[in-house]
Amino acid sequence: MTDTFSRDLAPRIRPRRLRQSAAMRRLVSETELSPRHLVLPLFVREGLDAPQPIASMPGVEQHSLDSLRRIAAEAAEAGLGGVMLFGVPASRDAVGSGATDPEGILNVATRAIADEVGDALVVQTDLCLDEFTDHGHCGVLDARGRVDNDATLERYTAMAIAQAEAGSQLLGLSGMMDGQTAAVRTALDDAGHTDVALLAYSAKYASAFYGPFRDAVDSQLTGDRRTYQLDPANGREGVREALIDLEEGADVVMVKPALAYLDVLRQVADLSTVPVWAYMVSGEYAMIAAAAQNGWLDGDRAQLEALISIRRAGADAVLSYAALDLAQKGLLS
Ligand code: PBG
Repeated sequence: MTDTFSRDLAPRIRPRRLRQSAAMRRLVSETELSPRHLVLPLFVREGLDAPQPIASMPGVEQHSLDSLRRIAAEAAEAGLGGVMLFGVPASRDAVGSGATDPEGILNVATRAIADEVGDALVVQTDLCLDEFTDHGHCGVLDARGRVDNDATLERYTAMAIAQAEAGSQLLGLSGMMDGQTAAVRTALDDAGHTDVALLAYSAKYASAFYGPFRDAVDSQLTGDRRTYQLDPANGREGVREALIDLEEGADVVMVKPALAYLDVLRQVADLSTVPVWAYMVSGEYAMIAAAAQNGWLDGDRAQLEALISIRRAGADAVLSYAALDLAQKGLLS
């Protein structure tokens, strides 16, 4: 009786066999997270002499030009895939003039690091007006105060040329205007910048997880971005945006934020004919960092687990504020 029981019903199917040793687990691991899979976002602020901590993003700083150079060199040394630059200007206006001025902080910073590290990693720039406008919107406003899509495209194309001339190798189109990928591609090509690549923030949701970022760039925004960023309720719309960007000539498409949108990421990854990236945004970083500061979880392990899950869901590369820290601690493969 006992014999029959154990022969028939004892589990012969034993998935735990493949988990029994570190060597076995290493052999069967499906997903890799290496420095080259990560892009480090960096903030550079006009007029700073020394880096300044960002209270809502523990471990992240606004950089001076000098400290930006140093950290970009460290990122290259650590083997990261790239850096993504965001500029924080000293003054702003209605059309975001600082974004197209060759002497604007983002363009100056791009020139400062493109020569130094541009062969070792991909130097990328955020292409959006929100850091440069006095109202904080990602575009210019019409007479009624609404974000004017086509007038904004003209600003984006000028910004693209300025960034390409400064040495940016990949432009992050994060403004969510209709037609931005096609407009910027055409303008770059007409100006001879055919080698500059475009990362389309295709499925960028109107998210509460951008909160700490708005501190990081001293955002002037009072309302919200729901007329141009996507409704968190809509998965299909995110897929549609990615398909449109592919048609418009995007070299890379992105889903953002990452953790709350892994379903969208998986769908886009299944359809895309170009690399798919995801942005683990400021709030996603900060909630782990804050919990870790309180001793409530192991911050490094939680950041790694989040990043692995984003890669597993289909991201070829991930933008992460923890990228350099994890790489320097030797926690990546
Ligand atoms: C727009 C931009 C934003 C982020 C990246 N690019 C802010 C926004 O859309 O409000 C957010 C990134 C983050 O939260 O880490 N320039």
